[in-house]
Amino acid sequence: MYRCNIVPRPNQIQPKEGIFAIPREGRIEDFVTRTIDTRISGAESYRLNVCPEGITISAGTPRGLFYAMQSVRQLIATSVGQIPCMCICDEPTYPYRAFMIDCARHFFSVADLKKMIDAAALFKMNVFHWHLTDDQGWRIEIKEHPRLTKISSVRASSDFGGIHADGPYEGIYTQGQLREIVDYCAERYIEVVPEFDMPGHTSAVLAAYPAFSCTGGPFYVQTKQGIFQDILCAGKEETFHFLFDVLEEMLSIFPSRYIHIGGDEAPKVRWKACLDCQARMKAEGLPDEQALQGYFMNRVISWLRARGRTAVVWNESLRGGNLDPSAVVQMWMDKNGECAHWANGGGKVIVSDFYHYYCDYPYAMTPLWKTYRYRPALKDVRPIYQKNILGVEAPVWTEYIETLAHMSEMCYPRFAAVAEAGWTREERRNAGSFERRFQMVTPLLAALGIHPAAPQLWNPHSFARLKGTAQFFLPKLPFIIRN
Ligand code: ACM
Ligand code: ZN
Repeated sequence: MYRCNIVPRPNQIQPKEGIFAIPREGRIEDFVTRTIDTRISGAESYRLNVCPEGITISAGTPRGLFYAMQSVRQLIATSVGQIPCMCICDEPTYPYRAFMIDCARHFFSVADLKKMIDAAALFKMNVFHWHLTDDQGWRIEIKEHPRLTKISSVRASSDFGGIHADGPYEGIYTQGQLREIVDYCAERYIEVVPEFDMPGHTSAVLAAYPAFSCTGGPFYVQTKQGIFQDILCAGKEETFHFLFDVLEEMLSIFPSRYIHIGGDEAPKVRWKACLDCQARMKAEGLPDEQALQGYFMNRVISWLRARGRTAVVWNESLRGGNLDPSAVVQMWMDKNGECAHWANGGGKVIVSDFYHYYCDYPYAMTPLWKTYRYRPALKDVRPIYQKNILGVEAPVWTEYIETLAHMSEMCYPRFAAVAEAGWTREERRNAGSFERRFQMVTPLLAALGIHPAAPQLWNPHSFARLKGTAQFFLPKLPFIIRN
């Protein structure tokens, strides 16, 4: 029996009479006819017809044709000599299908990132969330504030529980390189959403510009993982001038509709003791420091909105109860259904649940089946508000990942599983079918230089899960306890 090996699984496949014999020679482009057909609605929809005479793809947009071509590539790579005739009518379930790479904890070259981008494009992902700033490093060249390049991009050593390296570790993407990635992604219909994480996770920024803290410092670029108490001061006006300066330059590099401004894991210890922060709370009538974070984020959100951009924030920013409703909330560690509540109130949500979608944890902890079976349609969101779930994102944080080879194993097949959750309707999703199709398309990934985890590692049995999870966490325990 012929099986159609496309990942993500197309939403409608109709078998037809006859077969198409794949020519032994020549390029795919020579036997694929492409047509823009404006009767096909949906910016990402496409049709794919396999007939005895050849393959025809059509779409209302070049983006739709690009996705059709990804399906053709997979069909051909997974068929031996011939393809049964069929008609595919396909479009995604969710408009936002993202992957995130943390380049702050470890730095990845432009060449490596291009490979990850090519792989994501193969699975019709359309957003690259680029985590570029954190306590352990700043990676964006900002000409107006050169200390970010000189000071914030270098840490004295690295000590991430298991990974230990004496000596400085550094990395910065020049504006030319950042633009190169933006262009590379655009050619693959992927939007780059850069993240400047604030007000927390800013040790690297404060190391260069301690005046934007509550205490004045001194600070250093962190060499260990963790959550750090020194964050940007919400009381000092100069903090906001600095942020807007940096964001202004970022906007000139990144043309994306969305800009990620973080808002996760920001302890309030310093804000509670800071005269400037307390004065700000009084002046703005803010009841507590969570609301002060809401105020902080809202100033940046409205600054971005005035420039035609939409802010994305991690879900902790909801906790002050005063977040600007135009922000998109990225759910990673939900508390009391706060993200469902946000969506039920009309707010937009991106789903990247820690326990299912985080790809920096071993398969022992997050097996493939767990990632695959997770449903992004949050159950507490009422049916009429499900449309407020924009889509899905698979993040990979890199405290423990230093090389592309390691990243490839952690991310694949899990990135592809999340891509399928974003594209394929729930009733057409099936874990067994996914695993089989994914294995069939693996040679296409290998050709890109991306080597997924071996199939026997994807779904460890219970004992192996316990053992693997313990082996992963034991060397990190001192770091986890310290936090
Ligand atoms: C996060 O994982 N701190 C967003
Ligand atoms: Zn302060």
